[in-house]
Amino acid sequence: MKTMSPASEPTGLPVYGPHPAPEITVVLPTYNERDNVPIAIERVARALDGRLWEIIVVDDDSPDGTSDVVNAISERDGRVRCIRRVGRRGLSGACVEGMIAAASPIVAVMDSDLQHDETILPRMLEAVKSGSADIAVGSRYVDGGASNEGLSAVRQAGSKLANGLAKVLLGVRLNDPMSGFFMLRREMVERLEPKLSRQGFKILLDIVASAPRSIRVVEVPFSFRERVAGESKLDELVTIEFLALILSKLLFNAVSVRFILFMGVGATGVVVHLAVLRAGLVVPGIAFEVAQTVATVVAMTWNFFLNNWLTYRDRRLHGLAMVRGLLSFYLVCSLGVVANVGVAGMVHEADQVWWVAGIAGAVIGAVWNYAASAALTWRVR
Ligand code: GDD
Ligand code: MN
Repeated sequence: MKTMSPASEPTGLPVYGPHPAPEITVVLPTYNERDNVPIAIERVARALDGRLWEIIVVDDDSPDGTSDVVNAISERDGRVRCIRRVGRRGLSGACVEGMIAAASPIVAVMDSDLQHDETILPRMLEAVKSGSADIAVGSRYVDGGASNEGLSAVRQAGSKLANGLAKVLLGVRLNDPMSGFFMLRREMVERLEPKLSRQGFKILLDIVASAPRSIRVVEVPFSFRERVAGESKLDELVTIEFLALILSKLLFNAVSVRFILFMGVGATGVVVHLAVLRAGLVVPGIAFEVAQTVATVVAMTWNFFLNNWLTYRDRRLHGLAMVRGLLSFYLVCSLGVVANVGVAGMVHEADQVWWVAGIAGAVIGAVWNYAASAALTWRVR
């Protein structure tokens, strides 16, 4: 009997009809880029004219309606589509999702704000396709490349410092590991995906640091252009986040970037606590308990605002939500003290070594504060 089901290839995969697959996918991450993204798409299409390509825009539900603009283009050209991520933010995660959704064996990531020079895409593609490189990077820091037009002086200095550290500490032989412009095989992204951090923007460094040391990288110079429409979403904080990523990689991914930032903030909180306590004790007539209580509240408040600004900058709380967050943070930290003292007491009873008990209590308290505040204060799902 004849069936209407599609013919099967030897692989067992159904074949519905001939339709050429793209050889290259360009992933364009967007957040509030409605004015830039149509131009970026047009320029990429022009740069890759004559080849089979597709463009995947990964938009984090931009309030300016970027996805509507892209969907309108998709309706006229099926090579362009938009992944609209709801309830999530973060450049690295957006890039990973775009790359693993690609239909082609080779994928590229490029900024959608016209700061990257799309005309080097064919050269990058030749390098990866021919096998002369595993990763091709659009680089601002090799001969012929430049970044002075598109970055502030502070950002440039931070960027150079972080690059130097990445080279020394991680052995990453890359002149521009912070670049958001690169191309590689999708299969490599899929292999490394479980090791990659979702947070932050430093996806390329993460890929190179997580890949085997033997991979070959080619850097193609380009001049970083100035942004015309819209504004940058990355600020001076990216350098701190970058250092935390380096630390996380040095610790073999045992702890997340966010956890490292949270612990760093906690360390500054200890300093604040001691400073306030000391100041309180020099005021005549103030009892130790009072000074200690004030110092504790000040340090908790300090930690909350610093975490809200740095550790959770991708889900920063504002207005009423911030007040609610602060109160929940007080609650979480108070329970953390109970856990801390309880565990320290138990360990001390069993082991008698005072500092082992002290450290055990502090570690449990800190881990509790981290996990509970993630769930209750910043509501990470
Ligand atoms: N989906 C998504 N989600 N896209 C984002 C997000 C996000 O949370 N944040 C930024 N983007 C998009 C922007 O719309 C833009 O297309 C691209 O990512 C780069 O963001 P910019 O805000 O323009 O960053 P920049 O120009 O300051 O930073 C440049 O330098 C960095 C290194 O110093 C970029 O080239 C980065 O890619 C690079 O890592
Ligand atoms: Mn930019």
